[in-house]
Amino acid sequence: MTVDDELERLEIELLLEAIFRRFGFDFRDYAYTSLRRRILHVMRKEGLDSVSSLQDKVLHQQGTLERLLNGLTISVTSMFRDPDFYAAIREKVLPILRTYPNINIWHAGCASGEEVYSMAILMQEEGLYDKCRLYATDMNEGAIKAAKTGILPLTVMKEYTNNYLRSGGKSAFSDYYTAKHGNAIFDQTLRKNVVFAHHNLVTDSSFHEFHFILCRNVMIYFNKALQSRVFQLFNQSLSPFGVLALGIRESLLLNPEKETYEEIDALQRLYRRIS
Ligand SMILES: C[S@@+](CC[C@H](N)C(=O)[O-])C[C@H]1O[C@@H](n2cnc3c(N)ncnc32)[C@H](O)[C@@H]1O
Repeated sequence: MTVDDELERLEIELLLEAIFRRFGFDFRDYAYTSLRRRILHVMRKEGLDSVSSLQDKVLHQQGTLERLLNGLTISVTSMFRDPDFYAAIREKVLPILRTYPNINIWHAGCASGEEVYSMAILMQEEGLYDKCRLYATDMNEGAIKAAKTGILPLTVMKEYTNNYLRSGGKSAFSDYYTAKHGNAIFDQTLRKNVVFAHHNLVTDSSFHEFHFILCRNVMIYFNKALQSRVFQLFNQSLSPFGVLALGIRESLLLNPEKETYEEIDALQRLYRRIS
């Protein structure tokens, strides 16, 4: 590591400390390499040439924090993302969930809600929606606001229709939305049992007991220590024999919490709590 690298790391650590102490957003245990890349990207977009000057701007100029937060969180998502994952839910998770009189589901890190609307459609098709309550949370306020609208550009509907069909969808995907002015407006009934809320996995605690927790493509941005803390949060929030779903590139296997779970589907990252 060169002296310049060391100084840059120090400046980044000071920036993260400042954001935490001044605003309460804690990125100190995010995976360093990708976080660094995103900080430098924001720095350049702000027209700055050092991380220290970004820190100064964040602390003293209104609006900079919001732009930095948007730059630090990756909100890429899609409906029926990884169609085989949704097929595995139909086949392997629903038989478990069907046994409960009420089903509480938590989408942790739901971004702009595509994952939640996908689950609402799936539950409706399987005749389970009326006994479901879906909690959809994210630390990004803008993403939650977008999720609440249930409006997406029509241009992505072709891709989502393909995903839906490959996931085992039972209807015509277009039955779930109305096309208007270049947008797809999703059916209000899909939102009926959904609670959208702000929640930060790093700093907020457990708020309910769930039968199914999905936290997909979020922990990939955390370091091992933070992943471990978030798995503990899920342990506190998951009912006995509840199901945990992670993203395709994430795994429980390297985590001490793995003893608490058995694999339902190793490839699709579906785990069931056993103790
Ligand atoms: C790549 S998106 C994943 C969206 C969706 N789960 C999916 O798989 O398509 C990651 C989301 O995690 C959220 N996120 C990152 N850190 C978080 C934290 N500490 N607490 C809650 N959400 C967080 C981001 O705001 C972003 O919306």
